[in-house]
Amino acid sequence: MAFKVEQALHMVGGAGETSYATNSRIQEKAIYRTKPILETAIAELYGKLLPERMVVVDLGCSSGPNTFLVVSEVLGIVGDLRRRLEQKPPEIQFFLNDLPGNDFNNVFRSLERYEKMMEEEKGDLLVPHYVVGAPGSFYGRLFPCNTVHFFHSSYSLMWLSQVPQGLESEQGVPLNKGNIYIAENSPPQVVKAYQEQHRRDFSTFLKSRYVELSIGGGMVLTFLGRKSEHPASGELSYLYGLLAEALNAMVSQMTDDVIKYIIIDVKREGERNHGLYICLGPVAWSSAAAKHDKLLKDRHK
Ligand SMILES: C[S@@+](CC[C@H](N)C(=O)[O-])C[C@H]1O[C@@H](n2cnc3c(N)ncnc32)[C@H](O)[C@@H]1O
Repeated sequence: MAFKVEQALHMVGGAGETSYATNSRIQEKAIYRTKPILETAIAELYGKLLPERMVVVDLGCSSGPNTFLVVSEVLGIVGDLRRRLEQKPPEIQFFLNDLPGNDFNNVFRSLERYEKMMEEEKGDLLVPHYVVGAPGSFYGRLFPCNTVHFFHSSYSLMWLSQVPQGLESEQGVPLNKGNIYIAENSPPQVVKAYQEQHRRDFSTFLKSRYVELSIGGGMVLTFLGRKSEHPASGELSYLYGLLAEALNAMVSQMTDDVIKYIIIDVKREGERNHGLYICLGPVAWSSAAAKHDKLLKDRHK
């Protein structure tokens, strides 16, 4: 059985120093940079449909300022359009989607503060809207058919639904040992396994959205890619390479005691070691990290 990323994945919740909310400036930049595309897409659908009610979904919204940045951008764009076209403001229903492990509590705790800020900024011009959460994987159906006018997703669709199958030989030997993603030394079978998984996931995603989108609706999807055709090139591969190195170094410095923790945790997830150390549960992870910190401190004494 393949390890389901969807059951374990979540960004660091809350608003503390190490939270996603405090460490998502790159993703914020992507939202700002794609705003002209968002404007064009919404203008096209709004001009065609002139809807009295609009359903807008942000897929992989996470928790933090970016979640509300998307909401406020959409409200601003629709508000400007309806004034330019001299229409009554539509009512917008926002669905904020992410995996169930997302810190939705933090999202809804911060909602009032963002609402106040938008009211102060826009006053009577603020488009009426309602915000609700929609937990679940976007690699499957989330909404009734023909009900959504607009889907937005930023920096989320590069996450696969699961660790690809085929990262082991028929004899159970790991083919991508020491790596957590496609790396320079990954054999072609590993590259193919990741590509196949992406193809399957993206196709499931598109099929689901196709059914859910209402006629005349639209979608803006922003996610990471690579310029080169070489599968191990690109910044993400480089980052994962560094992360894999750090994790390997950490594991090699641990005592049997901590490694046992890791193995227990990986087994508890019902999966053999695919080198996906990233998916270690929080208990193993924090003991491993604490041990690693102590080792480093001892070394520098
Ligand atoms: C890097 S964050 C981006 C969040 C936000 N859109 C932004 O721009 O800051 C990626 C988000 O995608 C979510 N995600 C990953 N796979 C998902 C899936 N299958 N279904 C729903 N959300 C998913 C993660 O939980 C995470 O919150």
